[in-house]
Amino acid sequence: MDRIVINGGKRLNGTVSISGMKNAALPIVFSSIVTGAECIIENIPPVNDVLMALEIIREMGAEVEFTDIFQTTVRINSANIKPCSAPDDMVAKIRGSIYLAGAELGRFGHSSVALPGGCNFGKRPIDQHEKAFRTLGADVVSDDKRITCSAPEGLRGATVYFDIVSVGATINAMIAAVRAEGVTVLEGAAREPHIVDVANFLNTCGANISGAGTDTIKIRGVRELHGCDCYTIIPDMIEAGTYMAAVAATGGCVRVENIIPKHMDIISSKLSEMGAFIEEDDDAITVTVNKRLRAVNIKTAPYPGFPTDMHPQFSALFTTCDGVSEMNETVFEQRFRYVDELRKMGAVININGKTARIAGVNRLSGATVKAVDLRAGAAMIIAGLAAEGETVITDVESIQRGYANIVNNFRALGADIEDIGYAVHIFNED
Ligand code: UD1
Repeated sequence: MDRIVINGGKRLNGTVSISGMKNAALPIVFSSIVTGAECIIENIPPVNDVLMALEIIREMGAEVEFTDIFQTTVRINSANIKPCSAPDDMVAKIRGSIYLAGAELGRFGHSSVALPGGCNFGKRPIDQHEKAFRTLGADVVSDDKRITCSAPEGLRGATVYFDIVSVGATINAMIAAVRAEGVTVLEGAAREPHIVDVANFLNTCGANISGAGTDTIKIRGVRELHGCDCYTIIPDMIEAGTYMAAVAATGGCVRVENIIPKHMDIISSKLSEMGAFIEEDDDAITVTVNKRLRAVNIKTAPYPGFPTDMHPQFSALFTTCDGVSEMNETVFEQRFRYVDELRKMGAVININGKTARIAGVNRLSGATVKAVDLRAGAAMIIAGLAAEGETVITDVESIQRGYANIVNNFRALGADIEDIGYAVHIFNED
């Protein structure tokens, strides 16, 4: 079985360059369908979820071609795509495939998509996506296997009041509404940087979206969209945050570059509060840690709050700190599946409802642990890098879904880490 093996205890030093954001690339790839034209997209992260998204739209009839040997610039032409033709088994592998519902509905007036996969954090309902589509005039039928939407006369602009802050529902509603007749307003929208990125991409293709990044987004429907010569995806703040948390756990000095430091504010400020030294440049942050850090408390929240996708990595970091830290998870109902794995390494963690109390230990000990989901896998790497002895991480395909070159990057920073049978999926150009 594929695994990652780490001999822990080395400090990290050097520079790491961050890829494009997975959670922006997924909706941008799927929303390119709404344009029906040729789009050239740069800074595609070479991670398995995004490669799967590209394979799905190619199966549907899009032309998909990487234009560079690093597979980070892709040309997509969705002119001849067939609606409702995404293979269910492929769709079920990734969470982002839910954006096909909005993209097909926005372009063709109907959509039929299997329910998406993704990490298991307990129930992940799509009622807010459905509510948005219905408000725009679609008939929506869904069960535990698929969602089918139909608006034969086309969608009509309307005001959608979200009941909860949802990244996915905000993006899906925005994608569906770009070609609707009239004006759509999304109230209670999520404000994540990738929502702004998707809006910028669609605007580059002729859409008229304003207010992305605030909780009110206005979309004036346009009849036609065009393609784009070049759209560059923003850097991945979660990948960047993972390296920042890793150096905080091992000690050392790492420059994390090709990022937007503003997106990292909450991570940087937590690390400063814990005693790390943070230095910001225009497109980089350097984290220096020469001592054991202090315990702090974190509550996850939608942006600009502390991202739930950084929760497991910071929990791993907390095991190395002085004192007792608290991690309060407010976004997902079950995000603590990594805790048993950290306990195998000697972590002292008590869970009470939605809060984990994590007492720093003298030193974690290497063990065989599972990457139970994507960010939990990243947390296991951080714990393994900080631990004494050998850590073997299994089920690493979860990690491959969202981190490009993570083993090589940590090795370049001085870690003793190797992968056995770990390979990033190669996108088949045929
Ligand atoms: C996206 C990210 C995921 C991240 C999450 C929160 C992708 C592919 N995934 O997931 O990595 O952890 O944002 O930043 O981009 N909810 C409902 N009804 C809905 C939709 C959501 O109740 O219709 C709930 C969810 O169960 C969850 C909360 O709302 O408790 C937030 O979910 P949401 O922001 O939608 O996350 P995703 O888009 O699934």
